[in-house]
Parts: sequence; structure tokens; C-alpha cells
Amino acid sequence: MPPKTRFGMVWAQSRNGIIGDAGSMPWHLPEDLIHFQRITRGHPIIMGRRTWESLPPRLRPLKERTSVVVTSHEEVAEEVLEKGGFVVSSTADAVNVAREQPGAEEIWVIGGGKIYAALLPLADTLVITRIDVDLEGDTKAPIFDENWQQLTQAPDSGWFESMSGLRYRFELWERKGA
Ligand SMILES: NC(=O)c1ccc[n+]([C@@H]2O[C@H](COP(=O)([O-])OP(=O)(O)OC[C@H]3O[C@@H](n4cnc5c(N)ncnc54)[C@H](OP(=O)(O)O)[C@@H]3O)[C@@H](O)[C@H]2O)c1
Repeated sequence: MPPKTRFGMVWAQSRNGIIGDAGSMPWHLPEDLIHFQRITRGHPIIMGRRTWESLPPRLRPLKERTSVVVTSHEEVAEEVLEKGGFVVSSTADAVNVAREQPGAEEIWVIGGGKIYAALLPLADTLVITRIDVDLEGDTKAPIFDENWQQLTQAPDSGWFESMSGLRYRFELWERKGA
């Protein structure tokens, strides 16, 4: 049997479930960016058009992984293609294209809110950074239910403290029976 693909989602959220505001993340947490790189590097990543646009132009596409961008926006599609990424018009196509890319033993959905909500039913792994702060924002993390179990967290108890002063922790969740 071919090895099973890990289909994961990775995001950072505030205590009140906010992941974004006005097209970016409403916090500065450099340790989380390093964590994100470590999780996703070498694997295809799936994102929505607004998340692609939230990346600084000089950093997109994120290096050492294939970007699959869901969009109907022509100009954005042109930029993604020019820079070597893939453009698709549905989340189903995104998954099919991602499966064909290098490193596809793991596929990571990197946002944003619309894409997480659409692809949560397919996910078997969630990597969540909890940030110990309440914030205003226009984009929320997906709601997941009792079909998920937390496997680990770092640190084992309490929080890391960021150089930015924020407290945060990393959690790994798995779909029960996955
Ligand atoms: N905290 C975190 O970890 C994290 C991670 C990622 C993003 N974010 C934040 O989240 C926000 C962006 O999220 P968002 O929900 O506004 O946008 P998004 O999911 O990144 O992108 C939405 C766009 O993607 C396309 N799309 C999404 N779902 C689709 C579907 N099922 N079928 C077809 N097309 C689909 C559409 O593009 P077209 O309109 O071009 O057709 C849609 O307008 C930003 O603030 C960003 O900074 C936070």
C-alpha cells in the first residue's frame, strides 16, 4: 500500500479565535514564523488568494515548497504562475494538484479562514499556535469538535514567552481514528 498522506492544517490564533485582520496577522510573533517554516518546508502548501496576498511580495512564493493558490483573480493567478506556483479554482483541485508535488507525503493547508473552513473535513492533523491574548479581527480559526484529540503541546504546561512579550504555545491535534 502507498504510504498515507498526512493532510495537515497549520495556524496561529488568539484566545478568542482570531487569525487575521485587514489582510494580515494582528500580532508580531517571530518564533511562530520559525515554527511555521519548520512544519511546512519541503511540502506542498495550499492557500487562498488573500493569504497569498498577505505574504510580503519579496517572500512569495515561500521558498523550498510548492504553493497551490485557490483563486479566480486573474492578476493574482498570473503572478503565482510567473513565480512557479500553481493556480486552481477549487479546493478539490488544490488537493489533487498538491498530491502531485514533491514532498506530498505531507500536505499543509496554510490558510486563510475560508480555506481552513473548506478543507477541515479532509484534514487529519492540526498544528495550532495559541497566543495568550484577546484581539479584534475579521478572520476566525475554524471550529473543530470532539472528533479531534490533542496529542502534544510545547511547552508541556504553561507558555513560552516571545521576544515580543506575547505568551504562546504549540499544540498538535489529530483526528480520532486517523
Ligand atoms: N493566523 C494564521 O495562522 C493565518 C494563516 C493564514 C492566513 N491568515 C490571515 O487570514 C486572512 C485571510 O483569510 P481569508 O479567509 O480572508 O482569505 P483566504 O482563505 O486566504 O482567501 C480567500 C480567497 O481564496 C479563494 N477561495 C477560498 N475558498 C475557496 C473555495 N472554497 N472555492 C473557491 N475559491 C476559494 C477565493 O479567491 P478569489 O476571490 O480570488 O476567487 C477567496 O476570495 C488574512 O488576514 C491572513 O493574514 C492567518
